[in-house]
Amino acid sequence: MAKVAVLGASGQIGQPLSLLLKMSNLVNDLFLYDVVHSVGVGVDLNQIDTPGKVQGFLPADNGLEQALAGAEVVVIPAGIARKPGMTRDDLFKTNAGVIKTLITAVATTCPKAYVCVITNPVNSTLPIAVEVLKQHGVFDARKVFGVTTLDVVRGSTFVAQELGDPNPKNYVVPLLGGHSGATILPLYSQCQPKVQLSQEQLERITYRVQFGGDEIVKAKAGAGSATTCMAYAGFRFIESILRARNGENGVVEAAYVYLPGIEGGQAVADRLQVDYFSTKLDFSKEGAVRAHSIGPLSEYEEKLLAAGLPELKVNISNGTAAATAKI
Ligand code: NAD
Ligand code: LMR
Repeated sequence: MAKVAVLGASGQIGQPLSLLLKMSNLVNDLFLYDVVHSVGVGVDLNQIDTPGKVQGFLPADNGLEQALAGAEVVVIPAGIARKPGMTRDDLFKTNAGVIKTLITAVATTCPKAYVCVITNPVNSTLPIAVEVLKQHGVFDARKVFGVTTLDVVRGSTFVAQELGDPNPKNYVVPLLGGHSGATILPLYSQCQPKVQLSQEQLERITYRVQFGGDEIVKAKAGAGSATTCMAYAGFRFIESILRARNGENGVVEAAYVYLPGIEGGQAVADRLQVDYFSTKLDFSKEGAVRAHSIGPLSEYEEKLLAAGLPELKVNISNGTAAATAKI
């Protein structure tokens, strides 16, 4: 059983994610923090007939520190989301400041907690989180993640749709890279089971995985971006962390991490000349204990990787710089 804090809990992701956490038998305490409405969201969730206890906190009376006290997992969907015409990078200025503030409080209040950053642009917000934790001398790469599970979920969903298979869970597709457009790299050549796709089909689903977020932003027409599918994906990721923490063997999830701090990660970093990347990770009681190698890529995937890496490197250096700059 774990104590989980959700920062940004009143938002469009925060609320359905908190609902899923309240329904989980792996969570006994759920602490909700937001700059608005979080006390009410907590009272609402507390009327559900599951054992987990929920409490909401606002900024007054050190609410952030109270929400984080004793937290074992901190999940962060706080900040602004995209509207049509915006890129994830357009969120950077506002969300960099939000992440800096929240991670500083994590560093001083619950430095050993797992940290799951959902806030966009993840390619940059995770480097900010890592740098702030490093500044406080409490960084453990095995426990600090940019959440890219939604890309993994899309990887399965879109290939199933393309092949007319009603069950997306039949397909396990490695998802590498970052979490925006060209930096997202689905490896359909390594799909389990193997799939036969024409080049046209492959390009169509690769594009959908890379730009699946845009489909939702466009369809919601100003009302936000991915929320319920993100809550589902974020819950899947937290559940995996908790299952491994409880001693379950064989837990594997992809996440965007600081590679040099994880066994096997330096080899991936050396191959790509980049310190942050999403790749498959083995989880144990200590967190993400091994990064998988990226394996053989097809010619098409090598091209996608080469096209995405320069953008990812810029995103990373923007995040690293923002961690030390005054925001
Ligand atoms: P939202 O606007 O509905 O909710 C954000 C919440 O954060 C709001 O309740 C707001 O009050 C709160 N907030 C703002 N500043 C805060 C602060 N300093 N401290 C605490 N709370 C604060 O947005 P959303 O749709 O829930 O999206 C949240 C974030 O998640 C966005 O940045 C979005 O781009 C991102 N996102 C990431 C992924 C992913 O795959 N990683 C997927 C979807 C969305
Ligand atoms: C997504 O992939 O859906 C999220 O990152 C939200 C967005 O802005 O697209």
